[in-house]
Amino acid sequence: MDSKRKISLTGIKPTHVPHIGNYFGAIRPALRLTESYDGMYFIADYHALTTVRDPKALQQAVYDVTATWLACGLDPKSTIVYRQSSVPEVFELAWVLSCVVATGQLERGHAYKDAVAKGDVPNAGVFYYPVLMAADILLYGAQVVPIGQDQKQHLELARDMAQRLNHHYGEGTVVVPEALITEAPLVPGFDGHKMSKSRGNGITVFAPAKELRKGVMKFVTGSESLEEPKDPEGATVFQLYKLVATNEEIETLASKLRAGGYGWGHAKQDLYEALERELGPFRERFDALRADEAALDRTLEEGAERARAIARRTVARVRAAVGIDRPA
Ligand code: ADP
Ligand code: TRP
Repeated sequence: MDSKRKISLTGIKPTHVPHIGNYFGAIRPALRLTESYDGMYFIADYHALTTVRDPKALQQAVYDVTATWLACGLDPKSTIVYRQSSVPEVFELAWVLSCVVATGQLERGHAYKDAVAKGDVPNAGVFYYPVLMAADILLYGAQVVPIGQDQKQHLELARDMAQRLNHHYGEGTVVVPEALITEAPLVPGFDGHKMSKSRGNGITVFAPAKELRKGVMKFVTGSESLEEPKDPEGATVFQLYKLVATNEEIETLASKLRAGGYGWGHAKQDLYEALERELGPFRERFDALRADEAALDRTLEEGAERARAIARRTVARVRAAVGIDRPA
């Protein structure tokens, strides 16, 4: 890692096999950041535990997600890739942070608040989630955290905890992180709603070509006849096409649809081909990576060793600052 560059840190929750919404909305934009930052990418397995109850499914998801990111181009040599759970120092820092954050702030956390509003009885992990997330970030002195809109509030809480810690125990105890709100598209699923695992309206990133094509054919479209002119804007198929095709291809498809004589079925075939062009080459790499769990463990373990070296320094500084250890 180039120590003059800022550290950008990303946490990925292993809850399911990534779908193409995750790819265009999170994976591709996050990988582009490695051009400008020193990247730390971790699999947030302890965060997943707030919802995943099946131990085997959790294990599988860790490997699925790791192999997906590596296949899409995450380089474990130039970035640090690790399991959150391999660096237990995170819990030590999380405890210290929980002693500076007010319960009222956590009660206003949107995941917790939404669960309560729905009449659920969330587990305490859901309540504590933002504290563990803040520890994930502060432990490594990350200056930049790329996140989507949905994580903005969590990052504000992390900044607040960092500022409180520095206020009580001295500036420089921890680094106050900045959010980097990534310009990520919202990817629609078959039914036109946001693609998501829970709606079952998506296609996994590495679906075999046949399955990918079958998935693309399921997208809802207008019911115009083949001859009728069609409005590309607002059509889910066209929205997706814009994410993978070149400007020239996008223009061509738009004018064919507007002219009439070009069916939605044709547009879907174009979309399938463009998706296959982008994802096809990654698929083989994914299959090879996913087939060797021991190698994935080694990659994650190597990353964890590098991460732990940074984490130990932070925790030593914090322990001395708060009075657990004698000052150095
Ligand atoms: P899901 O909603 O399917 O459970 P996750 O919550 O695991 O997906 O999302 C992981 C990342 O992928 C987040 O950064 C989220 O913003 C992004 N993401 C998920 N679904 C989409 C989508 N349909 N379009 C764009 N980004 C998405
Ligand atoms: N909360 C994030 C999500 O649900 C995952 C996450 C955990 C994370 N720790 C993090 C993201 C630290 C960024 C930084 O997607």
